Amino acid sequence: MPKPDWPTAAAFLPAEHDLEHLRAAAAECRGCPLHEHATQTVFGRGGPDARLALVGEQPGDVEDQEGEPFVGPAGRLLNRALEDAQIDRADVYLTNAVKHFKFTVRGKRRIHATPDTWQVAACRPWLDAELQAVRPDLVVLLGATAAKSVYGSSFRVTQSRGVLLPWPVEGGPQTVATIHPSAVLRADDRGAALAGLVADLRVAAQALA
Ligand code: URA
Repeated sequence: MPKPDWPTAAAFLPAEHDLEHLRAAAAECRGCPLHEHATQTVFGRGGPDARLALVGEQPGDVEDQEGEPFVGPAGRLLNRALEDAQIDRADVYLTNAVKHFKFTVRGKRRIHATPDTWQVAACRPWLDAELQAVRPDLVVLLGATAAKSVYGSSFRVTQSRGVLLPWPVEGGPQTVATIHPSAVLRADDRGAALAGLVADLRVAAQALA
């Protein structure tokens, strides 16, 4: 639950809420300090008619440079999982809970840093506006940050993954929470972790069929 003194992107939202206006306005967002060190805003990708939306955490190093979500290593893993679940990435709206890359610098490397709850909350108006513009039937929440951004900090992906859940407010899309593709890349048993991600994505695909 956002606190009254937390920063928010709300003031940066444009009057017109179609994806093109949202994307242009998000490029200028200064709603929280994460824009200061990131290269650019990484807004969602996909058409306004997508029936399925996928929400990740935040852009990574590659996404920050290229300006597109899920085009780095986690994106390649996600492509594989989508293919295995027979979901066409071209039919999906793909975005993140946070639109700027948060990182710490170690030598020449920029290391991913998990966004704080208040930073996720600050960015939430963009996610809400994207979902209102696209109106998907189903949203897959990839990992804890995306899932907590919708259901709050007590949500546990490990306990509630792979099942259809109602949106917390009436009238919203159903969701399926699952692990983040990066968790598959980090897993000791990558095969099992990937199979779990694919099984959860299949729940989403079957719900849409
Ligand atoms: N991880 C995410 O959560 N999103 C991206 O776009 C890339 C990596």
